[in-house]
Amino acid sequence: MELREFFPAGLFAGKTVFVTGGGSGINLGIAKGFAALGANIAICGRTQAKLDGAAKELEALGAKVSARAADVRKPDELNAALSACRDTLGPVDILICGAAGNFLVPAEKLSPNGFKTVIDIDLIGSFNAARLAFDQLAQTRGSIIFISAGMAHMPYAYQLHVGAAKAGIDRMMQNLALEWGPHGIRVNSIVPGPIAGTEGMKRLGGEDHERRGGLGVPLGRMGAVEDIAKAALFLSSPVADWITGVVLAVDGGSGLAGSANFNASAAALLAAQVR
Ligand code: COA
Repeated sequence: MELREFFPAGLFAGKTVFVTGGGSGINLGIAKGFAALGANIAICGRTQAKLDGAAKELEALGAKVSARAADVRKPDELNAALSACRDTLGPVDILICGAAGNFLVPAEKLSPNGFKTVIDIDLIGSFNAARLAFDQLAQTRGSIIFISAGMAHMPYAYQLHVGAAKAGIDRMMQNLALEWGPHGIRVNSIVPGPIAGTEGMKRLGGEDHERRGGLGVPLGRMGAVEDIAKAALFLSSPVADWITGVVLAVDGGSGLAGSANFNASAAALLAAQVR
């Protein structure tokens, strides 16, 4: 991974990184970034087979890995995964709260359970992970990164549930930064822009989203998972050791351009699904 050109190879040697939703996509990309720089990695998610495949990729980068199925909505499962991590890799130094669920739906068609499901996975699941990892993070004087979204900061059509959940995450992030700073724990959020090839992008932009390239992105291209990994590595490194409570947009400037492009393409995608 090219990351070794920008960061010292052993920057995270001896560190333990726990990634929720770490079996694929942006979260696995972040995990791989840490693995490439010497960290050991714990990943959790709902599907053990997916985690096992991801674990092989992380081991190939030299990491010791703990891969244990846990749904962030279920505190008992999360506790078991965090205990397994501590027992096999040591206490968590860096927690990445990335597990999320998403689908496009007009507000008037969003069922109460659909709304609740995304709040449960994204917002409550992120709280569960942070809260249950607190003892380990206080021991290591570690740090947390939440994966937020542009929907937290401006309305995106057909994303009411995600906007509500992610706005909650960013407020929670600042609350935790305030309260857990005295424990030596830093807490920040990353807001990824459109990242090519991810499950989220397929759901929001269609299978052929890469065809549109960087339309509406001021820097002229879609993001790659490595763009988010680089930001996570920076925020977790000693270079950032006085940074806490920050929402860092890593989006090529796309948040500046508003949600109109997204809204139009999402409307077209929903219309095509109905046809
Ligand atoms: N449109 C409208 N409502 C939807 C929907 C869609 N595309 N997909 C799910 N829902 C609703 C369901 O109808 C259900 O509500 P109901 O009981 O009123 O019918 C509710 O959401 C829960 O769905 P269910 O499939 O039982 O939830 P789950 O816990 O198995 O899965 C999801 C969670 C729905 C978020 C699923 O899409 C998922 O697993 N996503 C993970 C991957 C992902 O989204 N990655 C991208 C992250 S950016």
